[in-house]
Amino acid sequence: MALRLQEGIRRSGPMPFPEFMAAALYDPNDGYYARPSGQVGREGDFFTSVSTGPLFGRLLARHIAAWHHSAGSPARWRIIECGANDASLAADILTELKASSADSGLEYCIIEPLPHLATAQRKRLPDARVLDAPELLGNDPLPGFIFGNEVIDALPFHRIVSDGRNWIDHAVALDENDAFAWHPVGPADLAIISALPVRPAGYQSEVRSCVRNFLKPLTAAISHGRMLWIDYGFPRDDYYHESRSTGTLRTFSRHRAAEDPLDSPGEIDITAHVDFSALATDIAALGGHLIRFEPQSRFLTEVARPWLLEMEGRLDDSARKDLRAFQTLTHPGHLGSRFHVMEASFNEDPTPCGEAAARLGPL
Ligand SMILES: C[S@@+](CC[C@H](N)C(=O)[O-])C[C@H]1O[C@@H](n2cnc3c(N)ncnc32)[C@H](O)[C@@H]1O
Repeated sequence: MALRLQEGIRRSGPMPFPEFMAAALYDPNDGYYARPSGQVGREGDFFTSVSTGPLFGRLLARHIAAWHHSAGSPARWRIIECGANDASLAADILTELKASSADSGLEYCIIEPLPHLATAQRKRLPDARVLDAPELLGNDPLPGFIFGNEVIDALPFHRIVSDGRNWIDHAVALDENDAFAWHPVGPADLAIISALPVRPAGYQSEVRSCVRNFLKPLTAAISHGRMLWIDYGFPRDDYYHESRSTGTLRTFSRHRAAEDPLDSPGEIDITAHVDFSALATDIAALGGHLIRFEPQSRFLTEVARPWLLEMEGRLDDSARKDLRAFQTLTHPGHLGSRFHVMEASFNEDPTPCGEAAARLGPL
């Protein structure tokens, strides 16, 4: 991977960082996510809410089923999950929906750009439709629920550094030892830049310019419905806060975080937090109405209320296990406040959520 990226830079000059990151993570042959397995989970490089066990999927299923019911229980409908990894979350959601007979007329679609993951997902869930891009869903929009857990943070971003007046985009070049090195390429020519605050010279951060193009074909695949993203991130004021002067870019390997994405491309995960204000702006530009922006703890606690009542007084091992998982998912010291949930409705009677908008600040 590193050799090929070096050759590319020698041939064509400095490589835009989103291109470098896309190759380092998603090259189908030797990208980080193309490795046979083991990135996600307690034994892997990092763990997600899915790694805590089936409860996360079961609660999400209840939320999705409640939407389906409130939408008049359309006879044909679809769930679209982006970046389903080993399909554990999909399997947990489908098990819960089947158990409550809420899966009637459902088409479960997975959008998975990585061929080896798509193969594993098809094997695990033969009835699911696994596609490498949402455009392949065709011209047959159905009522639907689109979602992804920790997907937006994995989409390529630009590395930007303030010179005190402008945000300077940084590409990847080679230094005199042929090692990867940051290379300033001039003021970032991105629509979103005008929304960012001015920061002192040397302040580093990240900005994603690909999100709207990522969302657009997904929204085209539903006639009406919901879109929900769960990820780590902040509203813009917090994301570009004066004190966050080295940005949110992180790499992960064996549960250890580091900050140099140019070190060992293909062998480490590269991620940056989500600017939820930018995500809300992209959703609104595509016709979505924001109905929720809140910590995962609050979202799951609301969804879990009936389940928590069902659990009252149960002392068996399975109940204890589920309650432990619920604590990990919702406790502020674990995953509860690290992750946020953003949900929007499309072509439905919007339920405006002033509280969510207030939390995001001006868009
Ligand atoms: C951190 S992993 C999260 C995996 C899983 N959702 C979970 O919660 O365990 C990020 C995932 O995003 C997926 N991804 C990246 N770009 C994508 C795209 N354009 N469409 C769909 N999935 C994408 C990758 O395949 C990768 O599996």
